[in-house]
Amino acid sequence: MKLAPSILAADLADLSGTIALCEEGDADLIHFDVMDGHFVPNLTFGAPVLAAMAKRTSLPIDVHLMVTESALYLDEILDAGAAWVTVHWEAANHLDRVVEHIRAGGAKTGVALNPATPVSVLHDILPRLDHVLLMSVNPGFGGQGFIPYVLDKARQLRAMIAEQGLEVAIEVDGGIGPDTIGPAAAAGMDTFVAGSAIFGQPNPVAAMRTLRDLAETSRVTPL
Ligand code: DX5
Ligand code: ZN
Repeated sequence: MKLAPSILAADLADLSGTIALCEEGDADLIHFDVMDGHFVPNLTFGAPVLAAMAKRTSLPIDVHLMVTESALYLDEILDAGAAWVTVHWEAANHLDRVVEHIRAGGAKTGVALNPATPVSVLHDILPRLDHVLLMSVNPGFGGQGFIPYVLDKARQLRAMIAEQGLEVAIEVDGGIGPDTIGPAAAAGMDTFVAGSAIFGQPNPVAAMRTLRDLAETSRVTPL
């Protein structure tokens, strides 16, 4: 399993301190939410902040693009040092082209689905992906409650991946905490984004360790 703390919930005036917490907590990835105020009703940060962070850490940075026009930003994001790049299915008119653009840039390539988007839309593109991100809240904000029907989507997606003989990671994002990470792992999810359940806690390093232990004891996949 992989743990990906989301810096959206961290102290944004102290990104170096946030990186140090992720390293001390043995995070596998740093989750970096890019929002454009169009695809989602919120604004965050982009390539210059990503580049600055990537220079300070060897942890891979997992960029979740919540933007209407992913293609406009991909080169900048890839050059800035993104290790994983995820685009939304709902925002891509030409998903195959965008996916190939990310792959050509050398990053792990993923597609995100909003809660109400069925996993069946990924059937044909699945062999081109390294990961699928299942949103378990409506994107745009941290601190929202986990939407339980996403667990069924994870089981369906795990079956689709197995049926096609692939190795694709299933990342889950939104409302992941001590009560939800176990059920998510048991449903076949293997990469866990968590913001407020880590940085909203008095001891983020201890919170990372607890979440990892809970996921490890519930997981069904060998990833
Ligand atoms: C929401 C973002 C998430 C967010 C998760 O649109 O994609 O990555 O940081 O926050 P929590 O873990 O607090 O739900
Ligand atoms: Zn995210």
